[in-house]
Amino acid sequence: MHKKKVKDSKIIMAHQTIPQDANPLGNVHGGVIMKHIDTAGGVAAVRHVRGNAVTASVDRLDFLAPIYVGDLVHVRASVNMVGETSMEIGVRVDAENLFTGQLRHTTSAYLTYVAQDENGRPTKVPGLIPETREEKRRHKEALARRKTRQEERKRERTA
Ligand SMILES: CC(C)(COP(=O)(O)OP(=O)(O)OC[C@H]1O[C@@H](n2cnc3c(N)ncnc32)[C@H](O)[C@@H]1OP(=O)(O)O)[C@@H](O)C(=O)NCCC(=O)NCCS
Repeated sequence: MHKKKVKDSKIIMAHQTIPQDANPLGNVHGGVIMKHIDTAGGVAAVRHVRGNAVTASVDRLDFLAPIYVGDLVHVRASVNMVGETSMEIGVRVDAENLFTGQLRHTTSAYLTYVAQDENGRPTKVPGLIPETREEKRRHKEALARRKTRQEERKRERTA
């Protein structure tokens, strides 16, 4: 199976936020952003495998700043690391004030997707080629998170 470059699957999706996206405070509801994050993460995962991939877990999701109705959200997703059948995808959300052009980093998340064959069983994923310094740093950090995830799952299974 050919290895793939990070740039082969990375994606930027943009969405204009509208009043229906608001929470009772009038800002954009966190759940709306979570959906955009999972969508963009899923697209990067499916692009990497060019097959089915399902969300297995969300490792971390930090809301760093509010998003205001009318902002354009830029959702960037790329593969940080691959295992045997799973992939960690990093997602970053920036909100753009369309009147001023100001961009704010509002949300970051790490998600794990698992590739599935036509019978819904986990299937091998292509290897990953991190090229840039940033991609190599993300890869290294993702490997450490994978180790932590594996240890946690092992502990849970034996508890
Ligand atoms: C995710 C899922 C496919 C894992 O299936 P499973 O039979 O438990 O998988 P395995 O134990 O064989 O593990 C397969 C891989 O997934 C990883 N994995 C499984 N559960 C995980 C979790 N909760 N978090 C992170 N990684 C996980 C394993 O580490 C393994 O990775 P590797 O092959 O790269 O080493 C299965 O639990 C599932 O189908 N869940 C529902 C998915 C879903 O409906 N998502 C929402 C809509 S898309």
